[in-house]
Amino acid sequence: MAKRHLITCALPYANGPVHIGHIAGCFLPSDIYNRYLRMQGKDVLFVCGTDEHGVPITLKAKNEGKTPQQVVDENYEIISKALKDFGIAFDTFSRTTNELHHETAQDFFKTLYDKGVFIEETTEQFYDEDAKQFLADRYIVGTCPNCSYDNAYGDQCEQCGRASSPSELINPKSALTGNIPILKETKNWYLPLDKIQDEFLNDWVSSMKSRWKSSVYGQCNSWLQEGLQPRAMTRDLDWGVKVPIEGADGKVMYVWFDAPIGYITATKEAAGVDWKKWWHDSDTELTHFLGKDNIVFHTIIFPAMLYAHGNFILPTNVPANEFLNLEGDKISTSRNHAIWLHEYLKDFPGKTDELRYALTSILPETKDADFTWKDFQAKVNNELVAILGNFVNRVVVLTHKYYGGVVPEGSLTCDTTEIKNNIDTALEKFNQRAGLEHFIELSRTGNKFLQDSEPWKLIKDDTNKQVVADCIYTCIQIVKEIGEYAQIFLPNTSNNILNLLNIKEYNDFVKVSHQIGNPTLLFEKIEDSTIEFQTEKLKKPALPDTEEKSNPFKPMIQYDDFTKLDIRVATIKSAEKVKKADRLLHITLDVGEETREVVSGIAEHYNPEDIIGKQVTYLANLAPRKLRGIESSGMILMAEDADGKLKFVAPEDTTASGSIIA
Ligand code: MF3
Ligand code: ZN
Repeated sequence: MAKRHLITCALPYANGPVHIGHIAGCFLPSDIYNRYLRMQGKDVLFVCGTDEHGVPITLKAKNEGKTPQQVVDENYEIISKALKDFGIAFDTFSRTTNELHHETAQDFFKTLYDKGVFIEETTEQFYDEDAKQFLADRYIVGTCPNCSYDNAYGDQCEQCGRASSPSELINPKSALTGNIPILKETKNWYLPLDKIQDEFLNDWVSSMKSRWKSSVYGQCNSWLQEGLQPRAMTRDLDWGVKVPIEGADGKVMYVWFDAPIGYITATKEAAGVDWKKWWHDSDTELTHFLGKDNIVFHTIIFPAMLYAHGNFILPTNVPANEFLNLEGDKISTSRNHAIWLHEYLKDFPGKTDELRYALTSILPETKDADFTWKDFQAKVNNELVAILGNFVNRVVVLTHKYYGGVVPEGSLTCDTTEIKNNIDTALEKFNQRAGLEHFIELSRTGNKFLQDSEPWKLIKDDTNKQVVADCIYTCIQIVKEIGEYAQIFLPNTSNNILNLLNIKEYNDFVKVSHQIGNPTLLFEKIEDSTIEFQTEKLKKPALPDTEEKSNPFKPMIQYDDFTKLDIRVATIKSAEKVKKADRLLHITLDVGEETREVVSGIAEHYNPEDIIGKQVTYLANLAPRKLRGIESSGMILMAEDADGKLKFVAPEDTTASGSIIA
């Protein structure tokens, strides 16, 4: 029997806010497990934080013209607030840019280094001569050898999901400059996973076979079957934890080396000097919650690191979830096909339990699941309102009606022991969806018991006095049990039931003669219009972090991108309306040596006769397109004000047609 339980939840990347996919993948499952164990009176520590290193964050910073630190600071605020408001009850929510984390990760690295664990190897890596830097796998794009998608990253193809290495890509290019990268020598430190596999992983993983989910064991096992290769734990990059050894200038740790050490850092933050018992005592049970894309890191790489270090406990369980889809389609942050937690909380104030309930009921425990707003509405209206809320409300109302809100003397006449055991057993086995079904069964059973007992009929006859009292007494105890188990699934509702029952905690029976609180509704129906609004919102992609700005700046480009544009001064020679097209003018431009024909959508802003002789800014090398049968070459650039008025952009003084603008 474990003496204490350490629960970790995969650290979300601080390159964007979190969405319902993350919640269903690991935040909610880990929180439910945490709450369940605490309800059992167990000694529990529940840690998480943001994963703030890695190349995607540097790419995002580049695109937005920010520093990586700015990006992670902003996202840490959004993520930590949203998770807190959602009731995810971490003991600590740390960050991997914290100094304590850098120290912890460096100590860990140094220990492995001093023990001679790493293999030092000089290899040729892709290098961008213009950007003067080695290219992380993410900085290399090319054609996927598997599915031919031509924008695959060096580490993974986003179209077919295949993990690869940059050297496998066809026509690799630098994502920084578009250059063809050269190969250049560099030294890095490798974890000999092949050796650790033979020494330790094979046996350890097979010993976990009966305990782990088959999907987790299966994925892990297939990696082992393929045979592990040494993996570099350092990178030529300037964003990350500096490698604390000589000859490693300009190198940082591989993000998947430092990130899981973040669990240790977070433990130190939460427990202070006591942190060691959580990681070194064999009577601590360690459980990692995560999504399926993280399995290999938690069942192979991190355990290999812990083993190589020595003295650390290993995870007992790694209950990884599959993915959550949204309205039948993959969640995509780039297409903004997502429900962002911080936006949900803004749109549905006070309705955290509603989302917790709907998501728990569809957790992707054994296969991918699909969230739809319609289903959300149905779960809230038909289950939370119609079953749970309804039962609790009827009991409170009847207690007031018959007994002035005072608990009558009675005995228990409905046994819910089996249901409660079923909840416990399901949660013990990480079957949280089933746990929730048994939980709602409590309310269903209560409702049925009340309906079958018909106290409203019995009360009319004095000889039934005790039967009615037994019924109401029993129902009150069931309400208490619902509130008690709601601590696991629906924490706000649990607090609300405490208030309804006018008790401070759930430890005992609600006593005879106790005065309960006044009836208030626990849930309200979700209207169709609310759901329609949300569904519409999904169809209108707007980047979440540019939402408030009407005119956000576009992503950063390189100088090379700019030089591809051929922009010139041109003079309008003639202009006429395009027939049957209210907005279009057909314009002939003098561009120096030659003339060009352009169709421009400015007829609502200018009369053709007024603009002859005007100078304009002209994008000369835009590929021609046909508009209303006229071939339009290039484009006249216009300034647009907030009201949508268009104005020509002209040189300060008359300038020769064809002059280059750069
Ligand atoms: N940031 C990773 C992800 O979102 C998860 C890191 S988990 C940790 O996929 F173990 F490395 F912390
Ligand atoms: Zn592919």
